[in-house]
Amino acid sequence: MNERAPGLPPAQMEWLLQLVRRRTGIVLQPYQLDNLPLIVQGACERFGYRDADAYLRHLDEGVAGTPELEYLVARITVGESYFFRDDEQLRFLREAWLPEVIDRKYRSGDRSLRIWSAGCAAGQEIYTLAILLSELLPQPESWSLHLLGTDINTDSLSQAIRGQYTAWSMRATDAGLRARHFEQLGDVYRIRPQLRELVKFSYLNLLEDNFPTMLSGTAAMDLILCRNVFIYFDAALIPPVMQKFHDSLLPGGYLMLGASDLTAEPIPGLELHHWGNTFCYRRGDGLSVAVAETRPAAAPLYVPPPAPDPAPAAVAEPPPPAPRPIRSPYPEVIRLLRAERWDAVVSKVDELAARDGMDAELAQHKAKALANLGLMEDAAREGEASLAMAPLDKHTYLITALIMVELGKLDKAQEALRKALFLDSNFVEAHFQNGLLQLRMGERKAGLRSLSNALELAERLDPQRQVHNAPGLVFGRLAEILRKELHMYQEE
Ligand SMILES: C[S@@+](CC[C@H](N)C(=O)[O-])C[C@H]1O[C@@H](n2cnc3c(N)ncnc32)[C@H](O)[C@@H]1O
Repeated sequence: MNERAPGLPPAQMEWLLQLVRRRTGIVLQPYQLDNLPLIVQGACERFGYRDADAYLRHLDEGVAGTPELEYLVARITVGESYFFRDDEQLRFLREAWLPEVIDRKYRSGDRSLRIWSAGCAAGQEIYTLAILLSELLPQPESWSLHLLGTDINTDSLSQAIRGQYTAWSMRATDAGLRARHFEQLGDVYRIRPQLRELVKFSYLNLLEDNFPTMLSGTAAMDLILCRNVFIYFDAALIPPVMQKFHDSLLPGGYLMLGASDLTAEPIPGLELHHWGNTFCYRRGDGLSVAVAETRPAAAPLYVPPPAPDPAPAAVAEPPPPAPRPIRSPYPEVIRLLRAERWDAVVSKVDELAARDGMDAELAQHKAKALANLGLMEDAAREGEASLAMAPLDKHTYLITALIMVELGKLDKAQEALRKALFLDSNFVEAHFQNGLLQLRMGERKAGLRSLSNALELAERLDPQRQVHNAPGLVFGRLAEILRKELHMYQEE
């Protein structure tokens, strides 16, 4: 590639900025603009585009733009992160939130904890939480921990999976902590396998991907960290993402942004609290939680990104796929499921079951809703009841497998997936989950094969067709996600 690329004409530059904003939420900063011509030229050479116009048109189409968009994303996202960043927040977690949650869960007999780092870069933030938990949880092995890191940059995710860092990422850690949780290989630090295995990483674009979903493990979270992601975002695109975070939290769950990410716009259902100088949002319905000071926060600290210039052009979005007609004898339950109103699903199922008796379909719907509410043991029981009535339903096996993963019962999850695939060897979602599970269990070759199978099958289906069990996800998008997951693990 040449060292210098000719500048992009203003119209092309504007096209590229809008495209980045629309597909990732990111507003590029003035200092990043000088690099864009070189990035575009590099992409054209790498992927064989005649000129910048052809490359941009391809990105604009947005369907098959995977490696091409990935190339750009890897070069424009700011992935700066390090272990034990943000002392104040960690003090809040260590001294207030974690002790309260652990105590509350201990007393209620619930031994599960679900934490998600959204925009996790190379994993430093979620591994920091894994370290805190391993040091604070009484008998950590008796807990079912779901620690998830997601990002849009697959190069960062590959590094997170490798779990290897230079001294620069360790700059806020002391020698004792490094010795306890890392192996040192020359000047590289590798996170110890016990911690590595606690954390799952996957691709998720906060702007384009639907969440919460059971399939992506983003439902019923106790804590979401999304630090230093929104500072690069278009302010207008933040509230819908915040609303989805709200939906991903359990009642009483917390969302923590970085100090410069706080948004001025109130989000219904999210209360702003502060603890000393640390701000956090709490999903306000349900349990009363005592950790945060509940005085109204001082003026929000939102720092708007520079105004876009000129104003963004309206972009015509393709119409969403029409919802499939409801064929179930329980259309009201299906409607509530599609609206992701999990509480209402449980109530409706109970009402119908009290009137006409429970059947396999109702039990399956209830299992799914309970799992999305984070009530995994209850969900497992409903799944079992459903299978006792309809032992040939591949979807119930898939739901059961997802629940077993959440409960840390990986062997049972694998058994359920085997049954689902026995019933339908072309079941894309089961191949996908099987691949993720095999990779998590260290069966790398088998895992990659299962993900490739899933991709091959997904590519044969209508890209606009809805994926069962995953509201808002179509097979075209699932195929894109699978390509990214494969890329992440192949780079490892
Ligand atoms: C500065 S890093 C923050 C890392 C970590 N949260 C921390 O505070 O140390 C911002 C991360 O957000 C990710 N990101 C940016 N836009 C995103 C999007 N639309 N969806 C998901 N991740 C995104 C970037 O790839 C980058 O890894």
